[in-house]
Amino acid sequence: MTILNTLGRRALFTLDPESAHHLSILALKSGLLPSCRAAYDKNLAVQTAGLSFPNPIGLAAGYDKNGEVPGEILRLGFGFTEIGSVTPKPQAGNPKPRIFRLPANQGVINRLGFNNQGHQAVLKRLEKFENPHPGPIGINIGANKDSADRIADYTLGLNVFYDHADYLTINISSPNTPGLRGLQSRDSLGPLLDAVMAARNMQREAGKKHKPIFLKIAPDLTIGELEEIAEELNRHAMDGLIISNTTMARSSLRHEPDSNEAGGLSGKPLFERSTIVLAKMRKLVGPDMTLVGVGGIDCAETALEKICAGADILQLYTGFIYQGPGLVRSILKELSTLVARQGASSISQLRDRKLDEWAAKPIPAEADLEYPL
Ligand code: FNR
Repeated sequence: MTILNTLGRRALFTLDPESAHHLSILALKSGLLPSCRAAYDKNLAVQTAGLSFPNPIGLAAGYDKNGEVPGEILRLGFGFTEIGSVTPKPQAGNPKPRIFRLPANQGVINRLGFNNQGHQAVLKRLEKFENPHPGPIGINIGANKDSADRIADYTLGLNVFYDHADYLTINISSPNTPGLRGLQSRDSLGPLLDAVMAARNMQREAGKKHKPIFLKIAPDLTIGELEEIAEELNRHAMDGLIISNTTMARSSLRHEPDSNEAGGLSGKPLFERSTIVLAKMRKLVGPDMTLVGVGGIDCAETALEKICAGADILQLYTGFIYQGPGLVRSILKELSTLVARQGASSISQLRDRKLDEWAAKPIPAEADLEYPL
């Protein structure tokens, strides 16, 4: 199976990244890829935000944008998956090419621009989806590029998907929708979170279950901006924070053919920056908020490092592009051994072990942020 995986990945890499992505979704749908039926090691189970995660490794938003393969992704071994970003209306996104592999850096630059089939198409699929499923399914909500009222796009998304999501993510950190990241500033974030929380209260008053809401932020924020976001999150009693989306910075890149493309950078070159922001946020929000660590996880060691820097659970995407579907099982196997070797009976006991060390590092300078669309 490993040889098949390697050959399959080599074949995918001869295609342009977007065609390779579509083909991998088709392969998952057709059941061609291996599934992981083995029980997960108990020391990797995590309880957070009122949810049970069989293991802490989730697939980040952007892979299954239209909710086509959540069950198949969970069967690969992921402990949870996040569909989206989904916008109210279908959207074509930016002109192609718009995904670039940077193999020498183990990174990817994308400027997709929220291409997706829109709320109704995704909702129809979720209505048919089997329940119960082996791990939580989150829905990541976005706003249309041409929207006249972006806050209304987010509250609509919450209402449309409330019954079908185990958690919802408010994504205000894509660099590829002009002006979207501006919602992270205090003056915009306060009214956005007021509206989102009011929408959830209405769902609760209608007798629905509490569904946790996470906010997904960029790694390109100053410490002052992080402090303001933390205050707003605490004021609104948000359940959690996903740290982080892709970066506009390029300072961590070695030059290669596509390293000057515009868009958001993910993968290995994002690891350090996103982990520093994660640790600083853990210090700011305190011990109780759920933090999801994302950015450059590509092996058990980088996964454990994020937990030690303050994350409760984790997500990855670019590592999956480079290493294929076997990655999650190999991370889980090693991670369980690493946890046991540290003398812990649960991975959650290792959270914050290196918090001070990571939080003391400076966020790489803003002057590096030189690739806006
Ligand atoms: C993304 N990401 C993303 N995030 C999001 O909230 N909504 C989205 O639609 C997308 N789309 C998307 C497409 C592609 C091609 C990539 C590579 C990434 C960001 C992703 O969820 C994650 O936050 C970053 O990629 C960092 O994690 P990795 O890739 O370094 O593990």
